[in-house]
Amino acid sequence: MGIALTAYRQGEKRVNSAPFPFDDDPIRLHMPYRCPLCRLPLHPLSAGWGCQSGHRFDCAREGYVHLLPPNRKHSKAPGDEKGMVQARRRFLEAGHYQPLANHLKQQSAHLAPSRLLDIGCGEGYFTAALAEASPATESYGVDISKNAVQKAAKRYPKIRFCVASNHDLPFEDHAFDLIVRTYAPSSDAELARLVSPDGQLIIVTPGPHHLRELRERIYQQVNDHDETSSAPTGFMLIDSQRIEHHIAPSGAEALDLLTMTPFGWHASIELKNALANEAQVPLSTDFIIQRYQLQR
Ligand SMILES: C[S@@+](CC[C@H](N)C(=O)[O-])C[C@H]1O[C@@H](n2cnc3c(N)ncnc32)[C@H](O)[C@@H]1O
Repeated sequence: MGIALTAYRQGEKRVNSAPFPFDDDPIRLHMPYRCPLCRLPLHPLSAGWGCQSGHRFDCAREGYVHLLPPNRKHSKAPGDEKGMVQARRRFLEAGHYQPLANHLKQQSAHLAPSRLLDIGCGEGYFTAALAEASPATESYGVDISKNAVQKAAKRYPKIRFCVASNHDLPFEDHAFDLIVRTYAPSSDAELARLVSPDGQLIIVTPGPHHLRELRERIYQQVNDHDETSSAPTGFMLIDSQRIEHHIAPSGAEALDLLTMTPFGWHASIELKNALANEAQVPLSTDFIIQRYQLQR
């Protein structure tokens, strides 16, 4: 069970402090976190981080830090809820999206960033693939879902995870030479603020045929996903690739896929029952991976 973060001012009683898992980690001195409340740099303390204004943030037992101020949450538990996170972990670990993980790994190995950030990282499957490809890289993951970050930090202790919103990221300007966004919302201004001048941004979106067979069983009319997407403001496209492959998850895995996506909200009970009894569910996957750099 993770330790809930409490932001508190110097002199106030600190609650729920835990031994900091990276106490002997020299990188910790240079971590690019900034205070989500006053935006001053966060400095390492014995059990978390603090800024010069006196805001303090404890580290959870799993090693992540919660940097989403309560007044910036739009709900009690924003982001993917526990059931979705568990379903995503099971589905991804069954290897159905391995070709995408391999592709991201190759890109990370090729770019060899000194620092990378996966925004909307979920339970960390793709963050781990990116980090594994380039062991010298300092790797960070951020998600608004505490459930997801808890699970990510527990499984991947060498990656630094935090709970925060992609629309107001608690990092210093130009801190990352690679930012990756796989199926998550974000703000263009934050992407441009955080990427280093020579850094790159990778955005993964669904291609036209992605999960078409599943969508045909849910919706009366199915249109191909739109293949065209415009560059985030301030960026220019430098590379675009498409990966298509076929998968055949079991019925239980297909149910996990439904649960981890918004499709699940539209699927009927009849469809869910039918899927549960199918040995295999043949599906097309189709990913578009676009690489950007800042406009010069
Ligand atoms: C479709 S999942 C993708 C997770 C992961 N990137 C992957 O591909 O496995 C979208 C993720 O974005 C997170 N998310 C949604 N809104 C967010 C926001 N404003 N800031 C940060 N994360 C957000 C959700 O909690 C969820 O984990």
